[in-house]
Amino acid sequence: MTFLAKSLSRVKPSPTIAITTKAGELKAAGRDVIALSAGEPDFDTPDNIKDAAKAAIDAGKTKYTAPDGIIELKRAICNKFKRDNNLDYTPEQVSISTGGKQVLYNALIATLNPGDEVIIPAPYWVSYPDMVLLGGGTPVPVAAQIEDNFKLSPAALETAITPKTKWLIFNSPSNPTGAGYSRAELKALTDVLVKHPHVWVMTDDMYEHLAYDGFEFCTPAEVEPKLYDRTLTVNGVSKAYAMTGWRIGYAAGPVELISAMRKVQSQSTSNPSSISQWAALEALTGPQDYLDMSRPIFQKRRDLVVDMLNKADGLVCPTPEGAFYVYPSIAGCIGKSTPEGVKIENDEVFATELLSSTGVAVVFGAAFGLSPNFRVSYATSESELITACTRIQEFCASLN
Ligand SMILES: Cc1ncc(COP(=O)(O)O)c(C=O)c1O
Repeated sequence: MTFLAKSLSRVKPSPTIAITTKAGELKAAGRDVIALSAGEPDFDTPDNIKDAAKAAIDAGKTKYTAPDGIIELKRAICNKFKRDNNLDYTPEQVSISTGGKQVLYNALIATLNPGDEVIIPAPYWVSYPDMVLLGGGTPVPVAAQIEDNFKLSPAALETAITPKTKWLIFNSPSNPTGAGYSRAELKALTDVLVKHPHVWVMTDDMYEHLAYDGFEFCTPAEVEPKLYDRTLTVNGVSKAYAMTGWRIGYAAGPVELISAMRKVQSQSTSNPSSISQWAALEALTGPQDYLDMSRPIFQKRRDLVVDMLNKADGLVCPTPEGAFYVYPSIAGCIGKSTPEGVKIENDEVFATELLSSTGVAVVFGAAFGLSPNFRVSYATSESELITACTRIQEFCASLN
C-alpha cells in the first residue's frame, strides 16, 4: 500500500517539462542545445505593465484580495470581453486565478463527478486530460486529423457525445497545433452542441491575440448565443502580454459555476497575487502596442519555420492560423533508421534521437495525443530558428 493518493497514480507528469529538463541537463554538460519546447513568448513583459506592478507594491497593494480577484480587474475583464468578443458579462460572472491553468482546474474540480466524460479534441494541451483525471472525470480524446488541419469535425464531435458528457474543452488557436477555427468552422461545432443541452463548453482562448494573416478570432458564446448559459470563456494575460511568470488567468460564465469555482479557490490558493492582478489590469486597459509589435514577428517566424520544415525529408508541416507552435507530421520518417542504427519507430524515438544527435529539443506528438508528429515552439529568435530547422533538415536527410 502506498502513502500517496490513488487519484495521483492515474496522472502523469508533464512531458513538456521532462523534455525541457533533459535539454537543460545536456546544456549544463556543455552541449550546444536549442530548445524549441518552451510554451512561452521569448519577449520581456512590457514596461507599462512592470511599472504598474511596482506602483502597486509602493502603494501597499500587497495584501490578500477577494478570493477570485479585485473588482477593478473584474470590471476591466468585462470591458475586454465586450471590446474584443462582443460578450456581455458582469463582475459577478468573472473569476480570476493563478494562471489560466488554475481557472481550468477550478472549473473541473467544481463540476466533475465520477463517470463524467470530458471531450478533448486531440492533439490537445498536455494538461487537459490529467486535470480531468485529477477531478475524478474521464477524458474522452477525439482525434482531429492533419488532413483537416487538426480541427475537430462536427461528425466526430456528434459521435463522441454520450449522456455522460459534461464538458467539451475547446482551444483555438490551439496548443500544440496552432490551428484556429474560422467562424464557419466553429458554428458547425456549436450547431452540434445546441442539440445536446447537457453538454457545457469550456473554451480556452489563451492564444486569442496570437493570430496571423488577418485571422478573425471567435469564441463559442459569441458565435452561438444559445450556448452563453453553458459556456465558460477562459482567457489570460500569460501568452498575450508575455506574462507567464505573473500567473494571472481569468474566466467568465454563469454565476453558479463562478461561485463554485470561487469556493475551490478560497480553500486552495485564497486569491491570485495582488501585485500581479494590478499588473494584469494595466495589461488589459493600458496601451495595446505590444500586441501589434509581437504579432508580425511571430508571423514571420511561423512562415520561416513552416517553409524550412516542409523542405525536410519526410516531414509535412501545415501552416497554422495562430499561437506560436507548428505540429509537423513525421509519417515519412517512420521505419527509417539513424546512421547509428536506431529505428524511428514512433515520434518519441524521433524526438529523443533528434535531441541527442543535433541538440534540438522538440516535444513528441504522443504527449499531445496525436502521432506521429512533434511540436515546435517558435517563440525564439529567428537566428536560432534557422539553425534549429537546418539541423532538423540534416537529421531527416541522414535517416534511411
Ligand atoms: C492552451 C493553454 N491553456 C492554458 C495554458 C496555461 O496558461 P497559464 O500560464 O496562464 O496558466 C497554457 C500554457 O501553456 C496553454 O497552452
